[in-house]
Amino acid sequence: MDRSGAPASPGARPDAVADLLRGRRTVDRFLPDAPPQDVLDTALDLARWAPNHKLTEPWRFYLLGPDTVSGVVSLNARLVADSKGAEAGEMKRRKWSAIPGWFVLSCVQDDDALRRREDYAACCCAAQNIMLYLWSRGVGSKWTTGAVTRDDAFYRLLGIDPALEEVVGLFWYGYPAGEPQSLREPVSQRVQYLK
Ligand SMILES: Cc1cc2nc3c(=O)[nH]c(=O)nc-3n(C[C@H](O)[C@H](O)[C@H](O)COP(=O)(O)O)c2cc1C
Repeated sequence: MDRSGAPASPGARPDAVADLLRGRRTVDRFLPDAPPQDVLDTALDLARWAPNHKLTEPWRFYLLGPDTVSGVVSLNARLVADSKGAEAGEMKRRKWSAIPGWFVLSCVQDDDALRRREDYAACCCAAQNIMLYLWSRGVGSKWTTGAVTRDDAFYRLLGIDPALEEVVGLFWYGYPAGEPQSLREPVSQRVQYLK
């Protein structure tokens, strides 16, 4: 058991968290070198501090080595070739082969539907912890839920039993090549102040 007794951000700049939340962007073009392993290890460690009803700690992480990456790249290229043609498949293979860092987050499947929903929510919070921490260390990431992540062969490649765990996402990470942009509507369009 591990307890967090750390004081909240002693001496942190008041806007540091706001800047991090606003500034994080999904990145899918990376410089070739992978970030140091300890950066990812710390990000996964921080994932555990996500809010989690009943403290089920439903997250499971799979860090992909070169053989597994190669299997996923080939599987995805084949799936894309089957649906969009050989040229599209080859383009995907080239793009995916250049990604420096890979991990998969899965969620343990509880028998109870409400628990499964809440566990999935906790895993999504864990994912955000990871992506925000990586960003704070200059590392970009992308959460993908493309067709490959739902394919039986993907589960087999990772050794995940779909009866026990569901893939929440495949994540890429690395140092960003370029500065991605993203926009949001003003929050006033999404808020109602009720009496
Ligand atoms: C559950 C989830 C699944 C996602 N799946 C994909 C995906 O399959 N392909 C993709 O290009 N982006 C995917 N994204 C990333 C979103 O496209 C991205 O967050 C969105 O464009 C907003 O950009 P930002 O993250 O830079 O703010 C996913 C994000 C989430 C939360």
